[in-house]
Amino acid sequence: MSDRIVDNIKVKDRVAPVQSQGSDPAFFSCWDIHSYYGESYIVQGVNFDIREGEVVALLGRNGAGKTSTLRSIARVDDPQVTHGEIWLDHKPLHKMSSYEAAQSGVALVPEDRRIIAGLTVHENLELAQIAPPVGWSIERLYEHFPRLAERRNQMGTTLSGGEQQMLAVARALARDIKLLLLDEPYEGLAPVIVQEIASIVDSIKKQGITTIIVEQNAVAALRLADRALILDMGNIVFDGTAKEVLDNEELRHEYLAI
Ligand SMILES: Nc1ncnc2c1ncn2[C@@H]1O[C@H](COP(=O)(O)OP(=O)(O)OP(=O)(O)O)[C@@H](O)[C@H]1O
Ligand SMILES: [Mg+2]
Repeated sequence: MSDRIVDNIKVKDRVAPVQSQGSDPAFFSCWDIHSYYGESYIVQGVNFDIREGEVVALLGRNGAGKTSTLRSIARVDDPQVTHGEIWLDHKPLHKMSSYEAAQSGVALVPEDRRIIAGLTVHENLELAQIAPPVGWSIERLYEHFPRLAERRNQMGTTLSGGEQQMLAVARALARDIKLLLLDEPYEGLAPVIVQEIASIVDSIKKQGITTIIVEQNAVAALRLADRALILDMGNIVFDGTAKEVLDNEELRHEYLAI
């Protein structure tokens, strides 16, 4: 795999689908994904792959296409993926509906968290486990999320923003998942809560769950991540280690405003 320089920024060329390279297929890969909202062409040929257990930060300016990329992977109706392949543990997500992708182990925790109204914390978690494949037990979830254990009988929608984020992540882990997609988990949260969520994501990482984290708070995401991808105008413009991003001032200024 060769590196090329575009505007002094290192970009890894990915010219062939990982699956066709034979010997060691990536656990997860996107190959030349193109997606549209109606006529709006948003994801414009995204390529990357992820090893099992890796935590990858997907970064970029507002409107770069981060959420659209996650939604494409989770096979949500909008945007529509018109070209490319998405593979997770040998399964072709690009051929699946969002329901089938979820059954195959994709869990998207969207920015708005989508806590179910009228249900307690405990009931939100139970509902996630109503059908197989079931993931972590509710006891294990409460061990990792003590704040949720304390509030198990509270209505989910009355939790604070940070607690709702914890519930949204816990609900994802209540299913047997292979790929966790976190869209702006720190959005709107105070620094102390960001720290608490970061330590939860770190403990999820130690359990070996492959994760893509999208964050405006690039520094916080890079602290957790093994690797970083930077998206710009629907394209991956950087694929490298978190340290390479932190050390590259030009890259940080150009795409991350840090
Ligand atoms: N439902 C939609 N219909 C049409 N265009 C959309 C829709 N959703 C997003 N877009 C457009 O797609 C582009 C990428 O949006 P996306 O939400 O993926 O960006 P993002 O990188 O997640 O940005 P942010 O950091 O602000 O969350 C933007 O120009 C946005 O206006
Ligand atoms: Mg977004």
